[in-house]
Amino acid sequence: VVLFGASGHLARNKVLPALFHIFRDASVPDSFFVLGFGRTPLSDTAFCGQIRTALGAEAGSDAAREFLARCGYCTGSYHDPASFKELGSRLAQMHSRWATGGRTLFHLAVPPDLFGPIATNLGKAGLASAPKSAPFRRLMVEKPFGRDLASAKRLNAELLRHFRDEDIFRIDHYLGKNTVQNILVFRFANAVFEPVWNRRYIDHVQLSFSETEGVEFRPGFFDSTGLIRDVLQNHMLQLLCLVAMEPPDSFDPERIRDRKFQLLRSLRIRDPAADILRGRYSAGSLDGHALQPYLEEPGVRPDSTAETWFAAKVYSDNPRWRGVPFFLRGGKRLDRREASISVVFKRPSYCMLCRSDESPAPNTLSFLIQPEQAVSLSFQAKVPGSKMCFAPLKMEFDYDRAFGAHPRTDYETLLLDGMNGDQSLFWRKDGVEAAWRLLESSLALWDSLPADSRHSALLTYPAGSIGPGEMDAFIRKEGRDWI
Ligand SMILES: NC(=O)c1ccc[n+]([C@@H]2O[C@H](COP(=O)([O-])OP(=O)(O)OC[C@H]3O[C@@H](n4cnc5c(N)ncnc54)[C@H](OP(=O)(O)O)[C@@H]3O)[C@@H](O)[C@H]2O)c1
Repeated sequence: VVLFGASGHLARNKVLPALFHIFRDASVPDSFFVLGFGRTPLSDTAFCGQIRTALGAEAGSDAAREFLARCGYCTGSYHDPASFKELGSRLAQMHSRWATGGRTLFHLAVPPDLFGPIATNLGKAGLASAPKSAPFRRLMVEKPFGRDLASAKRLNAELLRHFRDEDIFRIDHYLGKNTVQNILVFRFANAVFEPVWNRRYIDHVQLSFSETEGVEFRPGFFDSTGLIRDVLQNHMLQLLCLVAMEPPDSFDPERIRDRKFQLLRSLRIRDPAADILRGRYSAGSLDGHALQPYLEEPGVRPDSTAETWFAAKVYSDNPRWRGVPFFLRGGKRLDRREASISVVFKRPSYCMLCRSDESPAPNTLSFLIQPEQAVSLSFQAKVPGSKMCFAPLKMEFDYDRAFGAHPRTDYETLLLDGMNGDQSLFWRKDGVEAAWRLLESSLALWDSLPADSRHSALLTYPAGSIGPGEMDAFIRKEGRDWI
């Protein structure tokens, strides 16, 4: 594995610990090494010191010693072809030392504007996609893939000049989560759900993403991106795909990605101005700690119009979902960290137990993705006693309790899939572009507004709250309520 941006936040917190864990668990063979690359001048020893810090309490183990013996670092510039020549020589030594047969996974844990230059320089140095019969050379890139349709197309074209699409692994780390993969098993391996998984029985679907964090780690990146580009365009649309796509003919990665692409192509935002709300947090507090407003966060431009919250309403034109709204909302600096999907069924059309003016709460199937990984189904049950009264209850399945062992982390899953060449959990070129196409009108409209109008259109919410008050009216005008 060659890790670009090896000194960065993602490398330190996610990628290096995940590589160590899959090595420790013998999920990768002994013929394995990690070569970091970056501008920061580091010796192999200094790089290993950084990895030890990243591994924390695990750094003293025998497995860690063996892992660290396989780690090296190459200092260079992402834009300088000479650095890639040096990388090539170092790589050849490592391949020979660790008898890997030359199989290479390049992981790009760097800011997105470097994806193109790195792919190009790998190509120039003869390190890009190998012929099919040769040991693989694969490229893993982090989201975001572009910032709109035009830039995504440019990026795809740039990467594809040097790597075949089957060798490009576009990471959406949400897809590495067990509960996310479980959505497919739930839908397609259980006979009870598929027959009711359509507009006849489902009233609407809600997807929610909330974080308590602000923009501590990457303020510059977030401020130039905003939450719609950072979360809605990728994580949330991928979740929507899994909930709403048609059953694939098989679990072959291409068949799954075909179905996702078809679903993405069928999605519509009917009114690009009114069907997406944007918000930004003001001062507030959480757990007794005062929180500053977004515009006063270090690294944020004082005149920024980046949104830290959104709510959106999306429809699919396909026969299964026509007329069913999908409500998506996400926010930073909210009162909790949670990601969930709720599939809300229609209320019973007739209930002999109800007065004429009431009906029982609808059944809701919820997938909790983080922090806990769980699934629950709400239903009505009779309350004990002589009267025929009923109340909502939940049937719950919790991943940790059910299976005991901790599932693999998202990065462990995705890195192993990359090494195994399994593309099921990665974005394909056409899917990325379809996701940008869905948001194109709304993003273009927003970007075309004068800064003053954007400032006044941003709803505000206190940091540490549940979001802007206006979100209730947004969904109530459709006759629904947020879960
Ligand atoms: N952090 C996360 O949790 C996370 C989550 C999802 C996706 N991502 C994506 O993963 C990639 C890496 O994220 P990250 O948080 O690790 O980024 P980062 O810490 O800001 O940058 C990673 C490394 O890239 C190098 N770099 C080159 N040019 C740079 C520049 N102009 N500004 C800053 N660093 C530069 C730096 O290493 P050298 O100076 O040594 O070259 C830096 O250590 C990004 O594409 C990001 O969008 C990150």
